[in-house]
Amino acid sequence: MRKKIAICGKGGVGKSLLAYFVARALENLDYQVIVLDADESNIGLFKFFELQKPPKSLIEFLGGRKKFKEKLKSVPMIEKEKITLDEIPQECKAKIGRITVILTGKIHEPMEGCACPMGVVSKEFIEKLELKDQEVLIVDTEAGIEHFGRGVEKGIDTVIIVAEPSFESIEVASKAWELAQKLRKDVYLILNKVPEGEIREKLKKLVEEKELKPAGIIPYDEKVFMVSLEGKSPPLGKAYQSVKNTIEHILKIISP
Ligand SMILES: Nc1ncnc2c1ncn2[C@@H]1O[C@H](COP(=O)(O)OP(=O)(O)OP(=O)(O)O)[C@@H](O)[C@H]1O
Ligand SMILES: [Mg+2]
Repeated sequence: MRKKIAICGKGGVGKSLLAYFVARALENLDYQVIVLDADESNIGLFKFFELQKPPKSLIEFLGGRKKFKEKLKSVPMIEKEKITLDEIPQECKAKIGRITVILTGKIHEPMEGCACPMGVVSKEFIEKLELKDQEVLIVDTEAGIEHFGRGVEKGIDTVIIVAEPSFESIEVASKAWELAQKLRKDVYLILNKVPEGEIREKLKKLVEEKELKPAGIIPYDEKVFMVSLEGKSPPLGKAYQSVKNTIEHILKIISP
């Protein structure tokens, strides 16, 4: 399919969970899925895949944040114009079936400085990664909209914005929508953790008022919540089914 999809939204709305579910759904549709964890703070994503330990991050591979930061102005991150998945060092890839997880980097120490190098590495990786047929890249971004400012989305073609039933998350989603459209991306909104009844109706109205149209509404799934509390892999139950239907609907539009 050769698509590069970013998942973004306010903190805690379910970006990593959706990145995991989308990866699983695409794997089931026979795609080779590359998942880039571009969030410098949270460890959630690799936990969802039940990996014993995360792969070496791209930042670590490049000599760590400090070294990389010194080099930032003079040396291009990856000298090549294009890179393929095969060219990414083995130690930086965790393979789970047809899914490969890659990490930009995490903040480990206090006073490490700003997260700019992470943004640069994510941006370079996304832009330069050359996808083969049947390969798709899913990027789990950091919370908020700062990554738009850092240009992380430059190489992305499809942006999936996630919001939950909260005023703030709709506000962030609305801003992200505006930014993604300015960058001429294909943009989709997914409403997550949505209970039945009055809240669902109120949320739909709120979103309509912002002139946003959700591509999918994912139910609140108690089993997912329970399992993630235990730090285990989320079950492929009702929330997953709903994500799978939504991504199939989106695929029909972006990759008919
Ligand atoms: N549909 C859902 N039903 C129940 N729980 C959910 C659902 N979606 C997400 N959650 C739970 O909400 C919490 C936050 O999810 P997740 O870590 O994916 O959010 P995030 O947007 O990636 O957060 P962060 O901004 O911190 O990276 C997790 O405990 C997750 O299991
Ligand atoms: Mg996350």
